[in-house]
Amino acid sequence: MRVLLIGSGGREHALALKISKSSLLDKLFIMPGNPGTKQVGENIKINLSYSDKILQFCKDEKIDLVVIGPEQPLVDGLGDYLRSAGFKVFGPSQKAAQIEAHKSFAKHLMKKYNIPTADFIEFNSDEYENAVSYLKKSKYPLVIKADGLAAGKGVLICNNYDEAEKSLKEMFMDKVFGTSGEKIVIEEFMEGEEASILAITDGTDFTCLPSSQDHKRIGDNDTGKNTGGMGAYSPAPVVTNDLLSQIENKIIKPTLAGMKNEGYPFSGCLYAGVMITKEEPKVVEFNCRFGDPETQVVLPLLKGDFLKLLYSSANGKLDKNAVHYSEGSAVCVVAASKGYPDLYQKGFEITGLDLNDKKIIIYQAGTDEADEKIITNGGRVLGVTAVLNKNNLKEAREKAYEAIKEIHFEGMYYRKDIAVKALNR
Ligand code: AMP
Ligand code: GLY
Repeated sequence: MRVLLIGSGGREHALALKISKSSLLDKLFIMPGNPGTKQVGENIKINLSYSDKILQFCKDEKIDLVVIGPEQPLVDGLGDYLRSAGFKVFGPSQKAAQIEAHKSFAKHLMKKYNIPTADFIEFNSDEYENAVSYLKKSKYPLVIKADGLAAGKGVLICNNYDEAEKSLKEMFMDKVFGTSGEKIVIEEFMEGEEASILAITDGTDFTCLPSSQDHKRIGDNDTGKNTGGMGAYSPAPVVTNDLLSQIENKIIKPTLAGMKNEGYPFSGCLYAGVMITKEEPKVVEFNCRFGDPETQVVLPLLKGDFLKLLYSSANGKLDKNAVHYSEGSAVCVVAASKGYPDLYQKGFEITGLDLNDKKIIIYQAGTDEADEKIITNGGRVLGVTAVLNKNNLKEAREKAYEAIKEIHFEGMYYRKDIAVKALNR
Protein backbone atom coordinates (compact mmCIF):
# COMPACT_ATOMS: atom_id res chain seq x y z
CA MET A 1 0.00 0.00 0.00
CA ARG A 2 1.22 3.50 -0.83
CA VAL A 3 0.24 5.85 1.99
CA LEU A 4 0.23 9.63 2.31
CA LEU A 5 0.09 10.97 5.88
CA ILE A 6 -0.81 14.65 6.29
CA GLY A 7 0.65 16.68 9.17
CA SER A 8 3.91 17.53 10.91
CA GLY A 9 3.55 17.20 14.69
CA GLY A 10 4.38 14.65 17.37
CA ARG A 11 1.10 12.89 16.64
CA GLU A 12 2.11 12.48 13.01
CA HIS A 13 5.53 11.12 14.00
CA ALA A 14 3.70 8.52 16.11
CA LEU A 15 1.27 7.70 13.27
CA ALA A 16 4.13 7.47 10.77
CA LEU A 17 6.18 5.16 12.99
CA LYS A 18 3.23 2.83 13.59
CA ILE A 19 2.20 2.78 9.90
CA SER A 20 5.82 2.08 8.92
CA LYS A 21 5.68 -1.21 10.84
CA SER A 22 2.80 -2.60 8.79
CA SER A 23 3.54 -5.50 6.47
CA LEU A 24 0.97 -4.01 4.08
CA LEU A 25 3.08 -0.88 3.56
CA ASP A 26 4.94 -0.36 0.33
CA LYS A 27 5.79 3.36 0.61
CA LEU A 28 5.01 6.07 3.17
CA PHE A 29 5.00 9.80 2.39
CA ILE A 30 4.49 12.46 5.04
CA MET A 31 3.32 15.93 4.02
CA PRO A 32 5.00 18.11 5.18
CA GLY A 33 6.39 15.93 8.00
CA ASN A 34 9.32 16.80 10.27
CA PRO A 35 12.87 15.47 10.82
CA GLY A 36 11.38 12.65 12.94
CA THR A 37 8.98 11.40 10.26
CA LYS A 38 11.87 11.48 7.77
CA GLN A 39 13.38 8.51 9.62
CA VAL A 40 10.41 6.31 8.65
CA GLY A 41 9.21 7.70 5.31
CA GLU A 42 9.71 10.43 2.73
CA ASN A 43 8.78 13.98 3.63
CA ILE A 44 7.04 15.99 0.92
CA LYS A 45 7.10 19.74 1.22
CA ILE A 46 3.75 20.86 -0.19
CA ASN A 47 1.81 23.59 1.57
CA LEU A 48 -1.39 22.04 2.95
CA SER A 49 -3.52 24.92 1.69
CA TYR A 50 -2.83 23.88 -1.94
CA SER A 51 -5.32 21.04 -2.19
CA ASP A 52 -4.95 20.83 -5.98
CA LYS A 53 -1.23 20.10 -5.58
CA ILE A 54 -1.99 17.45 -2.96
CA LEU A 55 -4.48 15.81 -5.33
CA GLN A 56 -1.93 15.84 -8.16
CA PHE A 57 0.62 14.25 -5.83
CA CYS A 58 -1.87 11.47 -4.95
CA LYS A 59 -2.43 10.82 -8.66
CA ASP A 60 1.27 10.88 -9.57
CA GLU A 61 2.25 8.61 -6.70
CA LYS A 62 -0.76 6.25 -7.00
CA ILE A 63 -1.66 6.71 -3.35
CA ASP A 64 -3.88 3.95 -1.90
CA LEU A 65 -4.68 5.66 1.41
CA VAL A 66 -4.49 9.24 2.70
CA VAL A 67 -4.39 9.63 6.49
CA ILE A 68 -5.17 13.16 7.71
CA GLY A 69 -3.63 13.89 11.14
CA PRO A 70 -4.59 17.46 12.18
CA GLU A 71 -8.06 19.02 12.50
CA GLN A 72 -7.52 22.03 10.24
CA PRO A 73 -7.32 20.20 6.88
CA LEU A 74 -10.29 18.03 7.93
CA VAL A 75 -12.31 21.11 8.84
CA ASP A 76 -11.23 22.71 5.54
CA GLY A 77 -12.66 19.72 3.65
CA LEU A 78 -9.43 18.18 2.32
CA GLY A 79 -10.86 14.69 2.94
CA ASP A 80 -13.99 15.37 0.87
CA TYR A 81 -11.93 16.85 -1.95
CA LEU A 82 -9.63 13.83 -2.22
CA ARG A 83 -12.50 11.35 -1.79
CA SER A 84 -14.47 13.00 -4.57
CA ALA A 85 -11.49 12.33 -6.85
CA GLY A 86 -11.67 8.64 -5.93
CA PHE A 87 -9.04 8.37 -3.18
CA LYS A 88 -9.51 6.51 0.09
CA VAL A 89 -9.13 8.85 3.06
CA PHE A 90 -8.89 8.14 6.79
CA GLY A 91 -10.64 11.01 8.54
CA PRO A 92 -14.11 12.56 8.65
CA SER A 93 -15.88 14.75 6.10
CA GLN A 94 -15.96 18.51 6.58
CA LYS A 95 -19.57 18.27 7.81
CA ALA A 96 -18.70 15.56 10.34
CA ALA A 97 -15.61 17.50 11.50
CA GLN A 98 -18.01 20.14 12.86
CA ILE A 99 -18.10 18.01 15.99
CA GLU A 100 -14.73 19.62 16.80
CA ALA A 101 -14.90 22.81 14.72
CA HIS A 102 -18.01 24.13 16.45
CA LYS A 103 -18.53 23.49 20.14
CA SER A 104 -22.17 24.61 19.81
CA PHE A 105 -22.74 21.92 17.13
CA ALA A 106 -21.34 19.26 19.47
CA LYS A 107 -23.40 20.53 22.44
CA HIS A 108 -26.68 20.55 20.47
CA LEU A 109 -25.96 17.07 19.16
CA MET A 110 -25.34 15.79 22.69
CA LYS A 111 -28.50 17.45 23.98
CA LYS A 112 -30.65 16.02 21.20
CA TYR A 113 -29.31 12.48 21.63
CA ASN A 114 -29.13 12.47 25.43
CA ILE A 115 -25.36 12.15 25.61
CA PRO A 116 -24.10 13.12 29.09
CA THR A 117 -22.26 16.48 29.14
CA ALA A 118 -22.27 19.75 31.10
CA ASP A 119 -25.39 21.95 30.85
CA PHE A 120 -24.84 24.90 28.54
CA ILE A 121 -26.13 28.06 26.96
CA GLU A 122 -24.76 29.88 23.90
CA PHE A 123 -24.48 33.57 22.95
CA ASN A 124 -23.48 35.40 19.78
CA SER A 125 -21.22 38.45 19.93
CA ASP A 126 -24.22 40.76 19.32
CA GLU A 127 -25.77 39.46 22.57
CA TYR A 128 -23.16 40.94 24.92
CA GLU A 129 -25.71 42.44 27.35
CA ASN A 130 -27.69 39.19 27.57
CA ALA A 131 -24.50 37.27 28.24
CA VAL A 132 -23.55 39.73 31.02
CA SER A 133 -26.94 39.33 32.71
CA TYR A 134 -26.60 35.58 32.47
CA LEU A 135 -23.12 35.71 34.06
CA LYS A 136 -24.43 37.95 36.87
CA LYS A 137 -26.96 35.40 38.04
CA SER A 138 -24.74 32.33 37.49
CA LYS A 139 -23.11 30.01 40.00
CA TYR A 140 -19.28 29.78 39.92
CA PRO A 141 -16.94 28.36 38.80
CA LEU A 142 -18.22 28.20 35.24
CA VAL A 143 -16.57 27.68 31.87
CA ILE A 144 -16.61 29.98 28.83
CA LYS A 145 -15.60 28.44 25.49
CA ALA A 146 -14.98 29.99 22.10
CA ASP A 147 -17.20 28.14 19.62
CA GLY A 148 -14.49 27.69 16.96
CA LEU A 149 -11.01 26.17 16.78
CA ALA A 150 -8.44 27.78 19.09
CA ALA A 151 -5.55 25.28 19.38
CA GLY A 152 -6.70 24.12 22.83
CA LYS A 153 -6.59 27.67 24.22
CA GLY A 154 -10.21 28.80 23.75
CA VAL A 155 -11.50 27.48 27.07
CA LEU A 156 -11.55 29.79 30.09
CA ILE A 157 -12.44 28.56 33.55
CA CYS A 158 -13.89 31.46 35.55
CA ASN A 159 -13.98 31.40 39.34
CA ASN A 160 -16.18 34.46 39.82
CA TYR A 161 -18.21 37.07 37.97
CA ASP A 162 -15.27 39.46 37.50
CA GLU A 163 -13.18 36.80 35.78
CA ALA A 164 -16.14 35.80 33.62
CA GLU A 165 -16.86 39.37 32.53
CA LYS A 166 -13.18 39.84 31.66
CA SER A 167 -13.20 36.63 29.59
CA LEU A 168 -16.39 37.67 27.84
CA LYS A 169 -14.85 41.03 26.92
CA GLU A 170 -11.72 39.30 25.60
CA MET A 171 -13.78 37.08 23.33
CA PHE A 172 -16.46 39.54 22.14
CA MET A 173 -14.73 42.96 22.28
CA ASP A 174 -10.97 42.29 21.97
CA LYS A 175 -11.57 39.27 19.71
CA VAL A 176 -8.56 37.40 21.12
CA PHE A 177 -9.78 34.25 19.35
CA GLY A 178 -10.74 36.07 16.15
CA THR A 179 -13.83 34.68 14.43
CA SER A 180 -13.59 31.52 16.58
CA GLY A 181 -14.90 33.64 19.47
CA GLU A 182 -17.86 35.23 17.65
CA LYS A 183 -20.06 32.69 19.33
CA ILE A 184 -19.46 31.35 22.84
CA VAL A 185 -20.72 28.44 24.86
CA ILE A 186 -21.08 28.92 28.62
CA GLU A 187 -20.97 25.65 30.51
CA GLU A 188 -21.47 24.27 33.96
CA PHE A 189 -18.14 23.37 35.61
CA MET A 190 -17.66 19.62 35.98
CA GLU A 191 -15.57 18.09 38.74
CA GLY A 192 -13.64 14.87 38.33
CA GLU A 193 -10.69 13.29 36.62
CA GLU A 194 -10.33 13.51 32.84
CA ALA A 195 -9.53 10.77 30.34
CA SER A 196 -9.26 10.52 26.57
CA ILE A 197 -10.90 7.80 24.51
CA LEU A 198 -9.98 7.30 20.86
CA ALA A 199 -12.63 5.42 18.90
CA ILE A 200 -11.77 4.25 15.39
CA THR A 201 -14.92 4.05 13.31
CA ASP A 202 -16.28 3.58 9.81
CA GLY A 203 -19.36 5.61 10.75
CA THR A 204 -21.30 2.65 12.15
CA ASP A 205 -18.97 0.18 13.84
CA PHE A 206 -16.23 1.29 16.16
CA THR A 207 -13.40 0.03 18.32
CA CYS A 208 -11.90 1.91 21.27
CA LEU A 209 -8.12 2.02 21.64
CA PRO A 210 -6.61 1.85 25.16
CA SER A 211 -7.58 4.82 27.34
CA SER A 212 -5.14 7.61 28.09
CA GLN A 213 -4.81 10.81 30.08
CA ASP A 214 -3.43 14.11 28.83
CA HIS A 215 -1.92 16.92 30.98
CA LYS A 216 -3.34 20.13 29.52
CA ARG A 217 -1.94 22.80 31.85
CA ILE A 218 1.57 24.18 31.50
CA GLY A 219 2.50 23.85 35.19
CA ASP A 220 2.92 20.96 37.64
CA ASN A 221 -0.20 19.96 39.59
CA ASP A 222 -2.38 21.28 36.75
CA THR A 223 -1.57 24.95 37.24
CA GLY A 224 -1.18 27.81 34.77
CA LYS A 225 -2.41 28.16 31.22
CA ASN A 226 -3.94 25.51 28.99
CA THR A 227 -1.63 24.09 26.32
CA GLY A 228 -1.97 21.59 23.50
CA GLY A 229 -0.89 18.91 26.02
CA MET A 230 2.28 18.55 28.10
CA GLY A 231 2.37 14.78 28.48
CA ALA A 232 0.25 11.66 28.57
CA TYR A 233 0.11 8.09 29.76
CA SER A 234 -1.78 4.98 28.74
CA PRO A 235 -3.76 3.10 29.84
CA ALA A 236 -5.45 5.43 32.36
CA PRO A 237 -6.40 3.42 35.48
CA VAL A 238 -9.29 5.86 36.14
CA VAL A 239 -11.04 4.22 33.15
CA THR A 240 -12.05 0.87 34.61
CA ASN A 241 -13.66 -1.78 32.37
CA ASP A 242 -17.05 -0.82 33.73
CA LEU A 243 -16.47 2.86 32.95
CA LEU A 244 -15.21 2.02 29.47
CA SER A 245 -18.41 0.14 28.68
CA GLN A 246 -20.44 3.10 29.99
CA ILE A 247 -18.43 5.42 27.73
CA GLU A 248 -18.97 3.11 24.76
CA ASN A 249 -22.70 2.70 25.34
CA LYS A 250 -23.70 6.14 26.57
CA ILE A 251 -21.26 8.31 24.62
CA ILE A 252 -19.58 6.76 21.56
CA LYS A 253 -22.48 4.64 20.27
CA PRO A 254 -25.19 7.33 20.50
CA THR A 255 -22.82 9.98 19.11
CA LEU A 256 -22.07 7.93 16.00
CA ALA A 257 -25.75 7.04 15.61
CA GLY A 258 -26.69 10.71 16.06
CA MET A 259 -24.16 11.91 13.50
CA LYS A 260 -25.46 9.36 11.01
CA ASN A 261 -29.05 10.35 11.70
CA GLU A 262 -28.22 14.03 11.14
CA GLY A 263 -26.78 13.12 7.75
CA TYR A 264 -23.13 13.53 8.77
CA PRO A 265 -21.80 10.01 9.39
CA PHE A 266 -18.45 10.26 11.18
CA SER A 267 -15.60 8.05 10.02
CA GLY A 268 -12.00 8.20 11.21
CA CYS A 269 -10.93 8.73 14.81
CA LEU A 270 -13.53 10.15 17.17
CA TYR A 271 -11.73 11.56 20.22
CA ALA A 272 -13.91 11.84 23.30
CA GLY A 273 -12.47 13.88 26.15
CA VAL A 274 -14.46 12.71 29.17
CA MET A 275 -14.78 13.87 32.76
CA ILE A 276 -15.31 11.01 35.19
CA THR A 277 -17.75 12.78 37.51
CA LYS A 278 -19.32 11.33 40.66
CA GLU A 279 -22.52 10.55 38.76
CA GLU A 280 -21.19 9.27 35.41
CA PRO A 281 -18.66 9.94 32.65
CA LYS A 282 -19.57 13.16 30.81
CA VAL A 283 -18.20 14.61 27.59
CA VAL A 284 -15.84 17.59 27.94
CA GLU A 285 -15.16 17.84 24.22
CA PHE A 286 -15.06 15.88 20.99
CA ASN A 287 -12.19 16.05 18.52
CA CYS A 288 -12.37 14.81 14.95
CA ARG A 289 -8.86 13.25 14.94
CA PHE A 290 -6.24 11.53 17.05
CA GLY A 291 -5.17 13.37 20.22
CA ASP A 292 -1.74 14.89 20.64
CA PRO A 293 0.10 13.71 22.81
CA GLU A 294 -2.32 10.81 23.52
CA THR A 295 -1.44 9.11 20.21
CA GLN A 296 2.22 8.99 21.25
CA VAL A 297 1.37 6.68 24.18
CA VAL A 298 -1.59 4.74 22.78
CA LEU A 299 -0.18 3.54 19.44
CA PRO A 300 3.00 1.83 20.71
CA LEU A 301 0.82 -0.36 22.96
CA LEU A 302 -1.18 -1.80 20.05
CA LYS A 303 -0.45 -5.24 18.64
CA GLY A 304 -1.59 -6.18 15.16
CA ASP A 305 -1.68 -4.15 11.95
CA PHE A 306 -2.55 -0.52 12.50
CA LEU A 307 -2.52 0.34 8.79
CA LYS A 308 -5.09 -2.40 8.19
CA LEU A 309 -7.31 -0.76 10.82
CA LEU A 310 -7.01 2.69 9.22
CA TYR A 311 -7.65 1.33 5.74
CA SER A 312 -10.72 -0.60 6.87
CA SER A 313 -12.19 2.59 8.39
CA ALA A 314 -11.53 4.56 5.21
CA ASN A 315 -12.99 1.72 3.14
CA GLY A 316 -16.25 1.77 5.12
CA LYS A 317 -15.93 -1.71 6.60
CA LEU A 318 -14.15 -1.59 9.92
CA ASP A 319 -11.92 -4.54 10.80
CA LYS A 320 -12.17 -4.37 14.58
CA ASN A 321 -9.73 -7.22 15.00
CA ALA A 322 -6.92 -5.59 13.06
CA VAL A 323 -5.35 -4.40 16.33
CA HIS A 324 -5.65 -5.32 19.98
CA TYR A 325 -4.25 -4.35 23.35
CA SER A 326 -3.44 -6.94 26.00
CA GLU A 327 -0.81 -5.40 28.26
CA GLY A 328 1.81 -2.68 28.48
CA SER A 329 2.27 0.86 29.81
CA ALA A 330 3.48 4.04 28.16
CA VAL A 331 4.36 7.50 29.46
CA CYS A 332 5.17 10.53 27.30
CA VAL A 333 6.78 13.70 28.67
CA VAL A 334 6.66 16.71 26.36
CA ALA A 335 9.77 18.91 26.17
CA ALA A 336 8.62 22.45 25.37
CA SER A 337 10.25 25.76 24.52
CA LYS A 338 10.65 28.30 27.33
CA GLY A 339 7.68 30.69 27.20
CA TYR A 340 5.18 28.27 25.61
CA PRO A 341 2.11 28.52 25.39
CA ASP A 342 2.88 32.24 24.99
CA LEU A 343 5.75 33.64 22.94
CA TYR A 344 8.90 31.56 22.65
CA GLN A 345 12.10 31.52 20.61
CA LYS A 346 13.06 28.91 18.02
CA GLY A 347 16.23 27.70 16.35
CA PHE A 348 18.13 26.17 19.30
CA GLU A 349 20.16 23.03 18.68
CA ILE A 350 18.80 19.84 20.27
CA THR A 351 21.29 17.27 21.55
CA GLY A 352 20.84 13.80 23.02
CA LEU A 353 18.41 12.51 20.37
CA ASP A 354 20.67 9.55 19.55
CA LEU A 355 19.72 7.77 22.77
CA ASN A 356 19.86 4.04 22.11
CA ASP A 357 17.24 2.35 24.27
CA LYS A 358 14.58 0.03 22.84
CA LYS A 359 12.10 1.14 25.49
CA ILE A 360 12.37 4.83 24.57
CA ILE A 361 10.82 6.60 21.58
CA ILE A 362 11.72 10.25 21.09
CA TYR A 363 8.91 11.69 19.01
CA GLN A 364 9.69 14.92 17.21
CA ALA A 365 7.02 17.64 17.08
CA GLY A 366 8.27 21.24 16.76
CA THR A 367 11.66 20.47 15.20
CA ASP A 368 13.52 21.37 12.03
CA GLU A 369 16.87 20.68 10.42
CA ALA A 370 19.68 23.15 9.77
CA ASP A 371 23.33 22.40 8.89
CA GLU A 372 22.75 18.72 9.67
CA LYS A 373 21.59 19.58 13.17
CA ILE A 374 18.11 19.20 14.65
CA ILE A 375 16.84 22.51 15.98
CA THR A 376 13.74 23.68 17.84
CA ASN A 377 10.94 24.98 15.65
CA GLY A 378 7.82 25.08 17.83
CA GLY A 379 6.31 25.30 21.31
CA ARG A 380 6.03 21.59 21.94
CA VAL A 381 9.36 20.28 20.65
CA LEU A 382 9.66 16.58 21.59
CA GLY A 383 7.61 13.81 23.20
CA VAL A 384 9.97 11.60 25.17
CA THR A 385 8.11 8.34 25.56
CA ALA A 386 8.85 5.16 27.50
CA VAL A 387 7.01 2.01 26.42
CA LEU A 388 6.99 -1.19 28.48
CA ASN A 389 5.43 -4.46 27.36
CA LYS A 390 4.17 -5.15 30.88
CA ASN A 391 1.74 -3.14 33.00
CA ASN A 392 3.92 -0.84 35.05
CA LEU A 393 3.20 2.88 34.79
CA LYS A 394 5.58 3.64 37.64
CA GLU A 395 8.53 2.13 35.85
CA ALA A 396 7.50 3.66 32.51
CA ARG A 397 7.35 7.05 34.18
CA GLU A 398 10.82 6.62 35.71
CA LYS A 399 12.26 5.54 32.35
CA ALA A 400 10.75 8.52 30.51
CA TYR A 401 12.20 10.94 33.08
CA GLU A 402 15.61 9.24 32.97
CA ALA A 403 15.63 9.61 29.18
CA ILE A 404 14.60 13.25 29.09
CA LYS A 405 17.55 14.12 31.33
CA GLU A 406 19.85 13.12 28.46
CA ILE A 407 18.27 15.63 26.08
CA HIS A 408 19.15 19.31 25.93
CA PHE A 409 18.22 22.52 24.18
CA GLU A 410 18.28 26.08 25.42
CA GLY A 411 15.22 26.89 27.51
CA MET A 412 13.90 23.30 27.54
CA TYR A 413 10.93 22.99 29.90
CA TYR A 414 8.91 19.95 30.93
CA ARG A 415 6.41 19.04 33.63
CA LYS A 416 7.77 16.88 36.43
CA ASP A 417 4.46 15.27 37.40
CA ILE A 418 3.32 13.38 34.30
CA ALA A 419 1.41 10.22 35.35
CA VAL A 420 1.65 11.04 39.07
CA LYS A 421 -2.15 11.04 39.33
CA ALA A 422 -2.27 7.45 38.10
CA LEU A 423 0.28 6.30 40.70
CA ASN A 424 -1.52 8.05 43.54
CA ARG A 425 -4.77 6.20 42.92
P1 AMP B 1 -11.69 21.56 25.88
O1 AMP B 1 -10.84 22.28 24.87
O2 AMP B 1 -13.15 21.75 25.70
O3 AMP B 1 -11.27 20.13 26.07
O4 AMP B 1 -11.29 22.21 27.27
C1 AMP B 1 -9.96 22.28 27.70
C2 AMP B 1 -9.87 21.86 29.15
O5 AMP B 1 -10.66 22.73 29.97
C3 AMP B 1 -10.43 20.48 29.42
O6 AMP B 1 -9.50 19.48 29.16
C4 AMP B 1 -10.78 20.57 30.87
O7 AMP B 1 -9.65 20.42 31.68
C5 AMP B 1 -11.27 21.98 31.01
N1 AMP B 1 -12.73 22.04 30.87
C6 AMP B 1 -13.43 22.24 29.74
N2 AMP B 1 -14.76 22.22 29.97
C7 AMP B 1 -14.91 21.99 31.28
C8 AMP B 1 -16.05 21.89 32.15
N3 AMP B 1 -17.29 22.01 31.70
N4 AMP B 1 -15.82 21.66 33.45
C9 AMP B 1 -14.55 21.54 33.92
N5 AMP B 1 -13.44 21.66 33.18
C10 AMP B 1 -13.61 21.89 31.86
N1 GLY C 1 -4.51 16.36 23.71
C1 GLY C 1 -5.64 17.13 23.39
C2 GLY C 1 -5.95 17.23 21.97
O1 GLY C 1 -5.37 16.55 21.15
O2 GLY C 1 -6.82 18.01 21.63
